Amino acid sequence: MWCRMGGTLAFILTSVLSGILVCAEDPYQYEDWTVSYISASPLGVSQKVIAINNQFPGPQLETTTNYNLIINVHNELDEPLLITWDGIQLRKNSWQDGVAETNCPIQPGSSWTYTFKAKDQIGSYYYYPSLKFQKAAGGFGSIRVNPRRIISSPFVPPADDYAVLIGDWYKTDHQTLRNILDNGHLLGSPDGILINGLGPHQASFSVNPGKTYRLRISNVGLTHTLNFRIQGHRLLLVETEGSYVTQTYYSTLDVHVGQSYSVLVTMDQSIPADFQIIASTRFVWPELNGSAILHYNTTSNRGPVSGDLPRAPNDVQSSLEQARSIRLNLTAGAARLNPQGSYHYGRLKIAKSYVFANSALKLKEKQRYMVNGVSFVRSRTPIKLADYLKLEGVFQIGSIPDHPIDHATPSFASSVISGDFRAFVEIVFQNPENTLQSWHIDGYAFFVVGMGWGEWNPDARQSYNLLDAVARSTTQVYENSWTAVMLELDNPGLWNIRSQDLQRQWLGQELYLHVANSNTSDDVRRREEPPPHNLVLCGSALDLHSFNP
Ligand SMILES: *[C@@H]1O[C@H](CO)[C@@H](O)[C@H](O)[C@H]1NC(C)=O
Ligand SMILES: *[C@@H]1O[C@H](CO)[C@@H](O)[C@H](O)[C@H]1NC(C)=O
Ligand SMILES: *[C@@H]1O[C@H](CO)[C@@H](O)[C@H](O)[C@H]1NC(C)=O
Ligand SMILES: *[C@@H]1O[C@H](CO)[C@@H](O)[C@H](O)[C@H]1NC(C)=O
Repeated sequence: MWCRMGGTLAFILTSVLSGILVCAEDPYQYEDWTVSYISASPLGVSQKVIAINNQFPGPQLETTTNYNLIINVHNELDEPLLITWDGIQLRKNSWQDGVAETNCPIQPGSSWTYTFKAKDQIGSYYYYPSLKFQKAAGGFGSIRVNPRRIISSPFVPPADDYAVLIGDWYKTDHQTLRNILDNGHLLGSPDGILINGLGPHQASFSVNPGKTYRLRISNVGLTHTLNFRIQGHRLLLVETEGSYVTQTYYSTLDVHVGQSYSVLVTMDQSIPADFQIIASTRFVWPELNGSAILHYNTTSNRGPVSGDLPRAPNDVQSSLEQARSIRLNLTAGAARLNPQGSYHYGRLKIAKSYVFANSALKLKEKQRYMVNGVSFVRSRTPIKLADYLKLEGVFQIGSIPDHPIDHATPSFASSVISGDFRAFVEIVFQNPENTLQSWHIDGYAFFVVGMGWGEWNPDARQSYNLLDAVARSTTQVYENSWTAVMLELDNPGLWNIRSQDLQRQWLGQELYLHVANSNTSDDVRRREEPPPHNLVLCGSALDLHSFNP
């Protein structure tokens, strides 16, 4: 194991072996997960859901920055399985990303062990099963990465910390939903909104009056933006997918699919009672409500509080303004001792600019979605494996253009785009459709520097936030608008860029970013790690009998 003398106290030298410095290793954390179907009735109808160790939602994965996570996953479903760690950056290790093109699946009845760490990360994320539309059946859970003890947090430790997983939900099982999509149709309106796997009024959070709690809210649903709010209480936003933000009170918060937020809520109401927690669909009519109970834990609890429920805003502009108001706290330290503001992204020169435009198309009456005119199709052999083993004919770098091309003929490909290692790049997500998009990039956190209506053009750069834009891994793009992000491609690997709307991703709205260090004079520390010892082969890689990783 290599270590850097990064000036942090965590690295303790233990020995010097043949000129190589060996550090005390970070602690190991072992998890053993059995993934299986159980029946549950979140919306009053018994259905087959995916549980982990018989829990639906799955257990919270609580870890600490840089711990070595060893997660043994047993697949007891009747389908192949992979679990992806949405927002965990997997430094130089896309082998553990658990998406279709980085790993061969864990076959039914078999097991596979993930090995990774949340390197230099803190904060709130979530995991979910990435194949076969299984997320519609559950299998998701919250990820909580605690800072190391030497790093102080920018707020007083809360009395307790609760995961709040919100999402749209269908009463139909995921295999039926998948067939509907494969037959070229869309799913239509969901049947309800779940909070921690439970239907309206079922989940309950017990709190003590006067105390402050941290809620880690993740939208684990399929398609819908949800507006989150609590009757009689304000939400102090403190963290966004691993960034500490300038602490701001909101009465309601829009959480787009795939996004995670931490809020602090102080139990400051003078009447000890039960208050409603609401998550309701945004930008669609009629709205669907999910709810849970905030229970003041006192002997004098008066039961449900009367009065109006808080309402969600009903315009789009206020959502955009809320997004712009979420800023990085430059002086707070997150996973490392140096403050978040010490990386001056705004002063770096853009080496390359990408524009990814989504579009919808009906081909032979079947719905498809595209990025820059290309609809993604899964390859028989994962792209990552084909790349490593140099298998011909699986994918082509450049099979998707880096800008939308007018009047291009729509095509299908296992799209891969290249990124130069260490290049500082701008990615513009252009949304010419009249529905909201939610975009995610694996392997990175990016700075969300701007959002605006209409078509992006280079003049829009004048409006970018080059000082304290928030760094995160999933961003929304409002209808007929654009969102610009910036990032340094310092993480070699093959990284999925996808629509977090699972219907759109399933029908083609995704691509892969290939970041390789081609500088042969650079040493091994600047390259992606070799494949893990337990690498699974599939597709045309199975024909290479002599291969031994
Ligand atoms: C920013 O972080 C600092 C350092 O932890 C903290 O003292 C301060 O209250 C935070 N400011 C805001 C506006 O959140
Ligand atoms: C609520 O009160 C009960 C009984 O007094 C106690 O056992 C429980 O720990 C309390 N819950 C919380 C969240 O403090
Ligand atoms: C959802 O809750 C809002 C109040 O926030 C209410 O006006 C609306 O009628 C509810 N919708 C449904 C379908 O129950
Ligand atoms: C390649 O790596 C060497 C050694 O690390 C470095 O000095 C050089 O600047 C690198 N070249 C490029 C083009 O990055």
